[in-house]
Amino acid sequence: MMREQALDAVAPVPLLVPDMPTPAALWPWLERMHAARHYSNFGPLVRELETAFCRQFDVPGEQLATVSNATLGLELALQALALPKGAHVLVPSFTFVATATAVVRAGLVPVLADVDAHSWLLTPQIARDACSRCRVDAVMPVATLGMPHDMAAWQHFEEETGLPVIVDAAAAYGRQWLRGASGTLVFSLHTTKSLPAGEGGFVVSTRPGLAERVRQLSNFGINLDPDGDLPLGALAGVGTNAKMSEYHAAVALAAMESWDAHALQRRALYARLFAALNAAAPGLLRWQCGGPDGATQVPTLLCMRLPDADRRQTLERACAAAGIGTRRWYQPVMNDMAILRQAGAVALEAPVSQALSQDLLGLPFFWGMSDTQCARVVRVVADSLAR
Ligand SMILES: Cc1ncc(COP(=O)(O)O)c(C=O)c1O
Repeated sequence: MMREQALDAVAPVPLLVPDMPTPAALWPWLERMHAARHYSNFGPLVRELETAFCRQFDVPGEQLATVSNATLGLELALQALALPKGAHVLVPSFTFVATATAVVRAGLVPVLADVDAHSWLLTPQIARDACSRCRVDAVMPVATLGMPHDMAAWQHFEEETGLPVIVDAAAAYGRQWLRGASGTLVFSLHTTKSLPAGEGGFVVSTRPGLAERVRQLSNFGINLDPDGDLPLGALAGVGTNAKMSEYHAAVALAAMESWDAHALQRRALYARLFAALNAAAPGLLRWQCGGPDGATQVPTLLCMRLPDADRRQTLERACAAAGIGTRRWYQPVMNDMAILRQAGAVALEAPVSQALSQDLLGLPFFWGMSDTQCARVVRVVADSLAR
């Protein structure tokens, strides 16, 4: 213990440390997989994982499909909407690149919109404004940095406009729920996420047939329904291989066993760091404001806005000198990505996203972060911003 403390006082503090299950926790699941001699193709562990997710989201089996990662989940969910080629999909400019690349790879055109100044989310109101200014055929808001959306508000938007909405909730497992509303959510189970499978994801959708179509497209597009219109094995669509393997399901099921305890610990750690950083730099830090589930949040990242670009750079340099990891999350913003413009993306004005890209910074945050590591992060922020 003493040795670990001494090491934490000098060793680099990483930005993230994946909270993967230990080999001991994983072992019984691997034994089960091997006993069944089933390693992929919708095996017993994938089915067990899907059943657990269906219980959590209170949806029947046909409304949920696992996939090999969220990027393919987004692509296939878009494909399952069967929009005409070149249809316009509204996405936030402030997001991870996969949101926009999924739209392009699905043969559609991203329309890059701004986000709300407080929640950093593309809201139904922003979407309504965009619809009045340009062509929009579907909307793909993002649960930005894990912040959940009010799904009742998006359900209302869908009913009012007739436009389908797919929420990229890649970083929001444990925070984003349907809560009785209808809607479509795509989650990531990447190693850096709240419930890690290594690689993986799943799609939850109350839209009739959408999750079933995603499942079919994730299995090359092959018809496996003996009562379907097509012969068994015939292509019902141009799909891909986006199946989750039994190995990945084993990791997710093992991670699920410790998820509740770890989520509580992450929440407590976040509250401690949040209070200590605000005390270290009084009035200087700005934070993403809570969504509808703000009070029960299960954070996986620590991200804040500095007063301006200069002070962000000063802090980045101080962190680098102290061996503390930082990240400019979601930057450059999508509006500044030449490749997306070349792919035909339509860029709307995005002053909030541009402002975020000037002063937003991620600091270390991970399950098991020690008091010594936390104190080092707080000290560097206090020293850097006091200058
Ligand atoms: C907003 C967003 N969308 C999509 C993805 C892609 O998820 P995956 O790595 O499972 O493909 C991520 C991953 O971090 C993300 O943050």
